Amino acid sequence: MTGIDPRPEAITQRVVESISRDDLPLVDDRSRLRYVMNNLILHIHPSKVSKASLKFTYTWGLGGLAILLLTILVGTGIMLMFVYTPTPETAYTDMLRLQTEVNFGQLVRNLHHWSGNLLVIVVFLHLLRVFFTGGLRPPREFNWVLGVFLLLLVVGANFTGYLLPWDQLAYWAVTVGTSLLGYLPLIGEPLARLILGGSEVSGATLTNFYGLHVAIIPMLVFFAGSFHIWRVRKDSLSVPRNLPKRSDPTASSATVKAEKEQQEKVPTLPHLVSIEFVFALVVLALLVLWASWVNAPLEAAADPNHSPNPAKAAWYFMGLQELLLHFHPMFGAIVIPALAMVGLLVFPYLHFDSDSEGIWFRSLKGRRMAWVGAVTALVVTPLLVLLDEYVLDLPALMPSLPSVISNGWIPLGFVLLSLWLFYVLIKALFRANRDEARQSLFVVLVVSFVVLTVIGIAFRGEGMMLMLPWEVL
Ligand code: HEM
Repeated sequence: MTGIDPRPEAITQRVVESISRDDLPLVDDRSRLRYVMNNLILHIHPSKVSKASLKFTYTWGLGGLAILLLTILVGTGIMLMFVYTPTPETAYTDMLRLQTEVNFGQLVRNLHHWSGNLLVIVVFLHLLRVFFTGGLRPPREFNWVLGVFLLLLVVGANFTGYLLPWDQLAYWAVTVGTSLLGYLPLIGEPLARLILGGSEVSGATLTNFYGLHVAIIPMLVFFAGSFHIWRVRKDSLSVPRNLPKRSDPTASSATVKAEKEQQEKVPTLPHLVSIEFVFALVVLALLVLWASWVNAPLEAAADPNHSPNPAKAAWYFMGLQELLLHFHPMFGAIVIPALAMVGLLVFPYLHFDSDSEGIWFRSLKGRRMAWVGAVTALVVTPLLVLLDEYVLDLPALMPSLPSVISNGWIPLGFVLLSLWLFYVLIKALFRANRDEARQSLFVVLVVSFVVLTVIGIAFRGEGMMLMLPWEVL
């Protein structure tokens, strides 16, 4: 009968093997560590990656950064749970206690707050990176869909966390945010009641949001995120390519060299992992510095009887709140966001005209068309906001029509028609192919959304009145 080898190194080896599931002999400490790391890492990365995809300016490390931020959020979130109780009586005082009595409490709260906000931006930028490098093309179309779901979860996690400090900012931002649900036909009211645990934001809402924030949403992020990373591992990351030369793409020696580089593979460990490690350390250091300097906001305790003026939604919903000021609420809160979601989900399943995966902005013309889209949106969106604010009053012009038509279907029809015209013009005037024209349209929509968000955050004052730049300064 063979007994258990009692020597410490033999026990360590057995433990390590049980983790790494690796039967190869482990010679010394370094090789042991290497095996464990290698095997854990090989679950998320392939053993070799294309040398070209190590180029930082391709992914900008955004997907990895999202994972890092999620990890920080879980770590700091668990620490916060030790101090925080989600009731209207305790929530706000727990925040004060955390900031003044608990060692490093303010820092932990700051780290959690800023990482959460940064995550929304990082995931949005990651979406743009994937879009503009064609990373959403087959076979990665479903991973894009998973990504859209992750984006919604990240926003949901932020929104539910927003209420937890139970201060004026939290209370009224959530009141404004959840009131948008009421515009959903038929299910809006019951859904709002279910989420709020009643007819308005109360202790029941705090309990619901806490459950969603610390258990349900993180669990969904974990499953969807694991699926997402697994798909990246299986489909492999799209490989960056240079712009094809205009004359003869296949004959040019530069293209041949670039293609050779593309095919060249290097071991993931250390080439990719060392870059990720350094990047993570740098980001972590910057984040700790920022969180040491800038405190997460905390206003006066929530007062349901006294609404601040203006009552604004969380910053990432300000684009939607701005839309609500221009459209019938059902359109601003439901129809337009739903159309945007459907567009995002369907896009990777459309037919693509050209093979431009891995090329930033598809082609040289694609780049120019993207600029055209950005400039158009930067000029037209503020103009339309000003026009609607000071000149045009559609419901007053068409008093016989219900406002859902005069302030809903008619302006929406106008916007959709203009977007279609833009698409047709881009194709006709610049001889852009469908990919380039669609990309330009996407740029118009993204830039318009960003412009609306900025207007909502910075240029809306008391009573949500529009303030012109010189009034803001
Ligand atoms: C919590 C949110 C997310 C996490 C943690 C995450 C993580 C990652 C990581 C680590 C990668 C590989 C490296 C990189 O591209 O930077 C990746 C690739 C990818 N992600 Fe995400 N992602 C998230 C959200 C999204 C969103 C919102 C979308 C789009 C709607 C998306 C679509 C994709 C696609 C299609 C790829 C493959 C791209 C390619 O091969 O070029 N992801 N993601």
